Amino acid sequence: MDMSRILQLQLAPGVTDLAWGHPDLTLLPLDAIQSATASALTRYGGAMLTYGIDRGIGPLRDLVAEQIGHSEGVAPLPSEIMLSAGNSQALAQVAMLYAQPNDVVFVENPTYHLALRILRDLPLHLHAIGCDQDGLDVAELDTAINMHSAAGRRIAFLYTIPTYQNPTGATLSIERREALLKLQHETDLRIVEDDVYRELWFDTKPLPSLWTTFPRGSVIRLGSFSKSLAPGLRTGYITADAAIIDRLSGCGLLDSGGGMAHFPSFILAELLTSGAYADIVSEYRQRYARRRDALEAGLAPLRARGFQWASPRGGYFLWMKLPPHMRANDALTLIRAQHIDALPATLFSSRPLGYEAIRMAFSLYDEQTLHHAGTTIAAALT
Ligand SMILES: Cc1ncc(COP(=O)(O)O)c(C=O)c1O
Repeated sequence: MDMSRILQLQLAPGVTDLAWGHPDLTLLPLDAIQSATASALTRYGGAMLTYGIDRGIGPLRDLVAEQIGHSEGVAPLPSEIMLSAGNSQALAQVAMLYAQPNDVVFVENPTYHLALRILRDLPLHLHAIGCDQDGLDVAELDTAINMHSAAGRRIAFLYTIPTYQNPTGATLSIERREALLKLQHETDLRIVEDDVYRELWFDTKPLPSLWTTFPRGSVIRLGSFSKSLAPGLRTGYITADAAIIDRLSGCGLLDSGGGMAHFPSFILAELLTSGAYADIVSEYRQRYARRRDALEAGLAPLRARGFQWASPRGGYFLWMKLPPHMRANDALTLIRAQHIDALPATLFSSRPLGYEAIRMAFSLYDEQTLHHAGTTIAAALT
């Protein structure tokens, strides 16, 4: 089969490409999807193939709400949840409806490079706020809010990835969460929380989302089944207060096309009901944790040579800071000569970071390949 005509993923032959944050096709649960699709079609018939209710099908909304209640201790009310076609679509929709031309949108520096692309499709003023292994620098955000407010600029929202951030893998610390909560209270800042990696924790469960702990109305949380199940299903959900859900689900886009991800939502509802979903995510957690370990074991000799990284506690990525004398592009040239690829930090930042780094995804390859890639990178950079 000619995959180049089917997939976003394009791999050069013979290259182990750690640049892509994509899942391994061999891990995707084909059998479970096949039987869930058959049973959903039997159960729902033609309802699966017509326009769906604007906020997404009730059965899946109820199941996701229940699951959030179970895992985070606070379940959204029926009026506080809707389905999306994944976080990319949800972010584009939120930005379209909640930002006006020339508004300020705060992002993290570094942040998910393709979220920057989505936001740059709109005439917004993006302001990047530093973040480190404890997540967003809330003191810097505070200063920036004051500066823009004094200049009379409208602030639309903060886009943040507080749990297993892409690219750094960092999670916002409890202290920073408290500081952000205080700042939100003082400034009425709207927060768009990209929660795409929540389910992919390795060792211990993540902290609850900002949505569960911040005042109602302050956070729009974007959740997705892309990483916990399969990105091809293009299904996610949004939790926010009822007024925001009404605005998002009442917009022209959904009035015209009906609810997002209508067909795949029935399949997901089957998988959540049968317990298959829980089994799949649990298997992913173990597999990806082992992949992380394999890559790290290969890279380990670099720690003694000034390379630094925090072992990712969840998600897809390892963010390796380079020693002060080494530039990311030079490191990548050395790595590419060994037929391995990764991404430079500059791609994820809209202003200088003050250090050089590369991002490596451990999602796409098996343990053996990742261990070999890590060892080869270590040898190439030594
Ligand atoms: C932080 C972040 N947000 C969103 C996405 C895309 O999510 P979705 O597939 O739900 O559109 C990704 C995928 O890499 C991501 O890393």
